[in-house]
Amino acid sequence: MRVINTLAFLVLYWAPTVHAGLPGASYPPPRDISSNSSSVSAAWKNVTKILEQTLAGEGLGLVGSSLLNNSTFSMGLFSLYDKDASFLQYHHISPSTLNGTFGTTHVDSDTIYRVASVSKLITTYAGMVELEDNDWNTPLTKIYPSLQKFIQTTSTDPDAVRNIGWDKITVGDIAAHIGGIPRLGLPVASDIALLGTADPSTLKVWGLPTPNVTQFVDQYPCLKDLQFGTDTECGIQDYVQGIASNPPRYLPGNSPLYSDSGFFLLGGALSNLTGKSMDDLYREALFKPLGLNNTLSNPPTKPELLNRTVIASTLETDLINVPITTPSGGIYSTINDLSKIGISILNSTLLPVDRTNRWLQPVSFTGDLHYALGRPWEIYRYVHPDNNVVTNIYTKLGDAGSYASLLVVIPDFDFGFTILGASSLGVQTQAIQLIADQLTNSIMPALMDQARREAFKNLAGIYTHRGKALNTSVTLTVPSSAKSAPGLVISKWVSNSTDVIDQLAKTLVHLVPHIPQRPANRNMVRIVPTIRDIASSGQIAFQMETVDPTGPIQGHMFSEMYNVGSWVSTIDQLTYHDIPINEFVFSVDKKTGKVFSLSLPAYEIELVRNE
Ligand SMILES: *[C@@H]1O[C@H](CO)[C@@H](O)[C@H](O)[C@H]1NC(C)=O
Ligand SMILES: *[C@@H]1O[C@H](CO)[C@@H](O)[C@H](O)[C@H]1NC(C)=O
Ligand SMILES: *[C@@H]1O[C@H](CO)[C@@H](O)[C@H](O)[C@H]1NC(C)=O
Ligand SMILES: *[C@@H]1O[C@H](CO)[C@@H](O)[C@H](O)[C@H]1NC(C)=O
Ligand SMILES: *[C@@H]1O[C@H](CO)[C@@H](O)[C@H](O)[C@H]1NC(C)=O
Ligand SMILES: *[C@@H]1O[C@H](CO)[C@@H](O)[C@H](O)[C@H]1NC(C)=O
Ligand SMILES: *[C@@H]1O[C@H](CO)[C@@H](O)[C@H](O)[C@H]1NC(C)=O
Ligand SMILES: *[C@@H]1O[C@H](CO)[C@@H](O)[C@H](O)[C@H]1NC(C)=O
Ligand SMILES: *[C@@H]1O[C@H](CO)[C@@H](O)[C@H](O)[C@H]1NC(C)=O
Ligand SMILES: *[C@@H]1O[C@H](CO)[C@@H](O)[C@H](O)[C@H]1NC(C)=O
Ligand SMILES: *[C@@H]1O[C@H](CO)[C@@H](O)[C@H](O)[C@H]1NC(C)=O
Ligand SMILES: *[C@@H]1O[C@H](CO)[C@@H](O)[C@H](O)[C@H]1NC(C)=O
Repeated sequence: MRVINTLAFLVLYWAPTVHAGLPGASYPPPRDISSNSSSVSAAWKNVTKILEQTLAGEGLGLVGSSLLNNSTFSMGLFSLYDKDASFLQYHHISPSTLNGTFGTTHVDSDTIYRVASVSKLITTYAGMVELEDNDWNTPLTKIYPSLQKFIQTTSTDPDAVRNIGWDKITVGDIAAHIGGIPRLGLPVASDIALLGTADPSTLKVWGLPTPNVTQFVDQYPCLKDLQFGTDTECGIQDYVQGIASNPPRYLPGNSPLYSDSGFFLLGGALSNLTGKSMDDLYREALFKPLGLNNTLSNPPTKPELLNRTVIASTLETDLINVPITTPSGGIYSTINDLSKIGISILNSTLLPVDRTNRWLQPVSFTGDLHYALGRPWEIYRYVHPDNNVVTNIYTKLGDAGSYASLLVVIPDFDFGFTILGASSLGVQTQAIQLIADQLTNSIMPALMDQARREAFKNLAGIYTHRGKALNTSVTLTVPSSAKSAPGLVISKWVSNSTDVIDQLAKTLVHLVPHIPQRPANRNMVRIVPTIRDIASSGQIAFQMETVDPTGPIQGHMFSEMYNVGSWVSTIDQLTYHDIPINEFVFSVDKKTGKVFSLSLPAYEIELVRNE
């Protein structure tokens, strides 16, 4: 048995390296997105070319062509460091939008679309700005009297399958879709009971009993409103009264389940906790401070707004207004304004940095390794095809009625993009997902490549002691191949005439008990950014990433833990006065990112780059 295992290791040892280092960026974020010499703008040109070809009936094929041609869409990039990235935009107007009776016949970056469920992110962001951390732990029963009453009446006869534990579900849970509550909370539109009352044959198709219409009309005071958007009498308390006795789908906090209902409740909770109407809350927390002049929490009915809005279907459906649902899907915005929201998140404009960082942590897993959930971030774990580095992509997708939307934020690159779409045929979501795939496949490797090229220009080189009083020098290189493990390679390191790198490579190998024992490899000594404090102090700290990882090996989840988890195995192991000996701190020009000096805090020394 032992022999076989060792052989398995030996064979896999030579398999292509799978990168599994520290989480986070491999290089400082790229500063040049838009110039002709940027890899990113080259990738962008490729993407727009493919879109052009597709709209002309080729490129992505017939289906792609039909999805894109029949959708109106706007797409734009943004970057924290390159303002001109926002000039990289692409717009298409579908024949039917062009021919429509209402709304715009021209699309640009200030064209208004309904952003559907991107509203959920905007609502949560407003909550992040206005609430204290503790408010997120408030149980829903403290906010909604009818839920409190329901809990009281059912407490004598606990039944976790039949009754929702409203007193165990917090405001933070519903912002992360982990309340375990139903998706909508009441039967609307496609509910078979409702379809069946109009057309009894639908019931037969499913073998379902005849519904008791009186019963559900009695139970849900908001039914009419939500289904037809006919009157706006339905308040959040009426809605909550209707859903109180619905059965749960999961136990509180147990599993993600996409819930629009949760965001109706979140809107009510934010109003309750702040004492402000949602319209005021949005305006005060986000729209005004960020200058979002084209973002609206009510449908654009004034002529001067309506004629800048994409109306793909009818006015009744596209401008439907049921105020309690606005926090979930009723906000209207533009790619320019959504970009401002994205930039403000990347730059922590409205939140302290620590709260932004915590907001970007996942709250729950999904059934797939590549997707996780935050509040209510839909987190995609992109694996770079060349070197298998993982980059988290924070997204929110919107998909409702004639509209679809995407806000995408990639903190590792201080970069993001937005796509808004609409279609009278209802193909807008497939269209923008197809576009986002093209963009991602093309632009993610380009962002990595551009970051690597800028690190080469700004940080790589030979560093020596100022005045050369000491025989101390460091040589930092950048891997020339995209396939190599990323970061800055310490290819030479002499401290006061002592070769540090040999010692370091050997020691790192011994820190992790590998089977079989690996030879020390000088190239494996790499550093990656850990603290980016560019805007305020102009510093970027780096740490040693890992020992040459071999990546996942089937059947050795426990034994490979140290190999692939540098966050627990090698980082911060070698210290001097409790300062990691491999901590490298660059002082950079805030504008260009070019290094001024490099300090090695453990060695109490500052080095300068030989130009
Ligand atoms: C960038 O390229 C475009 C077309 O490829 C050209 O029109 C433009 O002048 C170039 N800009 C610069 C600054 O070189
Ligand atoms: C652009 O597309 C061409 C042809 O498909 C490809 O060779 C090139 O690598 C692409 N460039 C970028 C930056 O994606
Ligand atoms: C796009 O759709 C319009 C209307 O359906 C049609 O006239 C036009 O030919 C289509 N374009 C392509 C490239 O198929
Ligand atoms: C959808 O797009 C395709 C391809 O452009 C076009 O042939 C078709 O006519 C469009 N359909 C409608 C209903 O506009
Ligand atoms: C980001 O914030 C810094 C201040 O911390 C500010 O100087 C900079 O202009 C901001 N960048 C953008 C793109 O808003
Ligand atoms: C444009 O609208 C008119 C009137 O609604 C309709 O008759 C015509 O078929 C439409 N044309 C296209 C290309 O959709
Ligand atoms: C329908 O539900 C109501 C209560 O909402 C009840 O009074 C009535 O008896 C029910 N009808 C049938 C046929 O079950
Ligand atoms: C919030 O809800 C609680 C419990 O229902 C209520 O006592 C309080 O008045 C509400 N506050 C606001 C500002 O609506
Ligand atoms: C938004 O509108 C206000 C008031 O009309 C104006 O002062 C401000 O410049 C506008 N901001 C932007 C970004 O357009
Ligand atoms: C849009 O509305 C404004 C104000 O009502 C008007 O000045 C403008 O001409 C309209 N634009 C179009 C394209 O209809
Ligand atoms: C450098 O090495 C020499 C000889 O070992 C030693 O005397 C001196 O203290 C060292 N200087 C520093 C700054 O480490
Ligand atoms: C500096 O130290 C290195 C490593 O010990 C040695 O090879 C080199 O000759 C020394 N250079 C000087 C100028 O002393």
